[in-house]
Amino acid sequence: MSSGSEVDGSEVGVNVFVGTGVIGKYFFGFCVTVGSGAEARAGNVCVGTLAGIWRGKGVEVDFPVQAMIKPQTIKVRINRRFIKAKYSGGKLINDEILCYTRTMAYHGLLHKYGTLLDLPSHTRIVSLLEGNTPLIKADNLSHQLGGGFELFIKYEGLNPTGSFKDRGMTAAVSEALGRGAMTVICASTGNTAASAAAYAARAGMNSIVLIPQGKVAAGKLAGAIAYGAQVIQIDGSFDDALTMVVEITNKHPICLVNSINPYRIEGQKTSAFEICEVLDSAPDWLCLPVGNAGNITSYWAGFKQYNQMKSTGLPQVLGVQAAGAAPLVSGHPVENPETVATAIRIGKPARGEQALQAAEESKGRIIAATDAQILNMQKTLAKLEGIWVEPASAAGLAGLAIEITNGTLNPNGKRVVAICTGHGLKDPEIITKDMQKPSIVPPKLEALEEVILG
Ligand code: F0G
Repeated sequence: MSSGSEVDGSEVGVNVFVGTGVIGKYFFGFCVTVGSGAEARAGNVCVGTLAGIWRGKGVEVDFPVQAMIKPQTIKVRINRRFIKAKYSGGKLINDEILCYTRTMAYHGLLHKYGTLLDLPSHTRIVSLLEGNTPLIKADNLSHQLGGGFELFIKYEGLNPTGSFKDRGMTAAVSEALGRGAMTVICASTGNTAASAAAYAARAGMNSIVLIPQGKVAAGKLAGAIAYGAQVIQIDGSFDDALTMVVEITNKHPICLVNSINPYRIEGQKTSAFEICEVLDSAPDWLCLPVGNAGNITSYWAGFKQYNQMKSTGLPQVLGVQAAGAAPLVSGHPVENPETVATAIRIGKPARGEQALQAAEESKGRIIAATDAQILNMQKTLAKLEGIWVEPASAAGLAGLAIEITNGTLNPNGKRVVAICTGHGLKDPEIITKDMQKPSIVPPKLEALEEVILG
């Protein structure tokens, strides 16, 4: 290939190589194989150094190719691709390729996966560039749990408003905007509220959020207020609030953006797609917290869809509820759910049937973890891996630990993905309320030495 303009608008396979075009500690270059989709042939290779790129059309600068990093398929829109690989002392020191190209730029979930989602044609994209969250290998925690298996954390707390809700919310609010809705409403334990408020703000819409009085963590409430939502506290539970928003949206032209809204499920499926893309297949086990059960429903739908499209296989699903709010484990609604993991303090999950179906179809199960087990896992994860999540988000991992300890799940040789749904900053009090107050020293070196060295 000589010039990208020849492939403008078409699918190309891109193979990223490193060679000897070293500038400072970075190698700059590009290497593209042209072809249709995944069948791109390595024969059509053009390798260019930075200088080569500038020399433009027809230039082929040869240098020894030392490693092939990553093949992938992209849609070409512009004719320049820059690839930056860390390169030091003649050796590749980091095989994480950073592609600073407009071609590779990320435009959010609906842009990337819209064609795989069942959304109406009137949908008008409202995005905060959600999704694309990291899948972090957690070797320390895997070791702590007995070892012999690969553990990955899908860190959903790194979404724009700090929780996985942004995936479904981009879809629900985009659909609502496209059909001319002016106002969205939801019941929430906090994260849905913050997400709905942010996406509504971006769309120029109003948002109303109903939250259970006194049971929403500070970071979530602050978010909803900051994004401009009308926040209404209900002197009742999340379940009461959900009943109320269903009733009011049946009566008035306000758009419901709880996960009863099917577009929320469509958007949330994308996390399963991302996992399959990174791992090249579905994991053996998927562990995640279960509250209103929208997320487990979405993952299962997403994995099934991706498997049909790309034969990526299916995970066994381990859903985990908090012991004080475990209707899917006890088999009946819980009238007064109670747990420190306020995000999943839910007694009548709207998608409970689908959650049970996901567990059954996947040959997995739904279990309960106590508050102590959840908080213990929250701390362990932060200390061993540097990943701080809110309590509910540690429930999936707490469930995994329970199953491994009981001998009911043998992880040996398996790949396990745990979904960590929300960031630790959402609920700082859970850490600070019992903390030992940090010591105070005068601003003198000796005082500092005294404290550190004893
Ligand atoms: N983890 C976090 C951090 C959550 O906020 C939620 C749900 C869940 C897990 C459970 O997901 O409901 O799809 O089973 N939070 C909702 C809310 C209820 O209002 O923010 P689910």
